[in-house]
Amino acid sequence: MKIRHAKDYADMSRKAANIISAQIILKPCSVLGLATGTTPIGAYEQLIDWYRKDDVDFSEVITYNLDEYRGLSHDDPQSYHYFMREKLFDHVNINMENTHVPDGSNPDADAACAEYDAMVNAAGGIDLQLLGIGNNGHIGFNEPDDAFSKGTHCVDLTESTIKANSRLFDSPDDVPRQAYTMGVQNIMHARSILVIANGEAKAQAVYDMCYGPVTPRVPASILQLHTNCTVIADEAALSLCPRR
Ligand code: GLP
Repeated sequence: MKIRHAKDYADMSRKAANIISAQIILKPCSVLGLATGTTPIGAYEQLIDWYRKDDVDFSEVITYNLDEYRGLSHDDPQSYHYFMREKLFDHVNINMENTHVPDGSNPDADAACAEYDAMVNAAGGIDLQLLGIGNNGHIGFNEPDDAFSKGTHCVDLTESTIKANSRLFDSPDDVPRQAYTMGVQNIMHARSILVIANGEAKAQAVYDMCYGPVTPRVPASILQLHTNCTVIADEAALSLCPRR
């Protein structure tokens, strides 16, 4: 695990966008695993800026998002389908047919999740997986548990995640209680992984991810075992970690 210090959110976002754009330049038909949440927004803005300057071309890029709330339609402004269009896809030359987000509108969880895994496999797996991290160490929507999850599956969100994510909804009651998420095994199969984190609220989770025991109680801790994982975090998120 390589840990890179960023000065602040803007620096973290630029460094992350650099790695993503390098991936696309080196392999134009890259399969990217993408994340939602507030953390990656700055990196997406930077990529849009570089696209407008003709420095990065998304025309052959294929994307698979990590997760989606169960029960939301693709046009629901709280859905991750909507988020990805608004924050990235609508602003670059990506072919929308090459973008994929788990189908939260499909009430048949087993079918929706199996179909998603089959699509990722058919694409040959993920070249670069972008991840944020939850305050409790979750990745995607893989919550602390007794065992690491495998493929895409339906999860019950923890109270802590519902509370953390309620800031983006009118009220905590509006936050869906379930989500479809790629499993930890799907994430670990990515050929490279980029984790980004900023702010003091993530400090404990970042410490546990990088220096704690590898345990399903902190799903992100398994990333210590990945052979090509880079963490980019700002000073606040790294405040509990040993200095370089
Ligand atoms: C959600 C997403 C995660 C994300 C996490 C942190 O739960 N499913 O993929 O990493 O939130 O979000 P934020 O970046 O807003 O702190």
